[in-house]
Amino acid sequence: MKPKLVVFTGAGISAESGIQTFRDSDGLWEEYNVNDVATPQGWEKNRALVLDFYNKRRKQVLEAKPNKAHEALVALEKKYDVHIITQNIDDLHERAGSKKVLHLHGEIFKSRSTTDSSLIYKIKGTELNVGDKCERGSQLRPHIVWFGEMVPEMETAYEIAATAALFVVVGTSMVVYPAAGLIDYTKPSIPKYLIDPNDVKVNGIKNLTIIKEKAGVGLAMLVNELIKK
Ligand code: OAD
Repeated sequence: MKPKLVVFTGAGISAESGIQTFRDSDGLWEEYNVNDVATPQGWEKNRALVLDFYNKRRKQVLEAKPNKAHEALVALEKKYDVHIITQNIDDLHERAGSKKVLHLHGEIFKSRSTTDSSLIYKIKGTELNVGDKCERGSQLRPHIVWFGEMVPEMETAYEIAATAALFVVVGTSMVVYPAAGLIDYTKPSIPKYLIDPNDVKVNGIKNLTIIKEKAGVGLAMLVNELIKK
């Protein structure tokens, strides 16, 4: 059986594909007020503004291509049972060819009913607008987890992390919980790696190797090493 390698990714892995991160100096939360566009309160206040924000994100993702970092994770599948747990709403891991991808914060190409969260649809084209309705006649919203909402996939993610033989963190500021707490569910004895060009606060994590590089370079280095092992 191949060893289970779990990769936890954030916006930084898609930065080299031209997708803005959230908290870097040119990040989305410098440009937008998070309360206006990524909370249930923002949605109640101005649905058109929220939909416009995600329509722009969808267009940006459609224009982007997977980069070397996404591709490196696909190469790892030859030797490892790779599970990607991503906070990203883009589909670049899937487009690169990764087989097991769990989206913690939703997916930009899906919408869901505002009255029945089990009604989830693929978005055709780039836009979701006021007046687009589910089969039961209620407004569709982006299939995104907003601040203040539950993260439905968290339990599944904890189980995956708890059974990892190796754990790799790439391109996340590790400030948004519960996702950022995932590393605490890994076994203390397993090797862990963190790839980010900037300092990321992680305290009290045993067996952690920090690779202070951008995702493209850092993952190429790590994947080479892990494939040789
Ligand atoms: P952030 O924008 O908070 O953090 C991005 C991280 O990527 C930072 O640590 C950067 O240093 C790093 N980074 C930048 N360029 C990089 C590169 N080329 N290679 C590798 N790393 C790079 O994004 P997230 O941590 O993903 O949630 O944010 C977590 C959540 O907060 C998101 O899922 C989103 C956001 O608000 C929701 O919208 C619910």
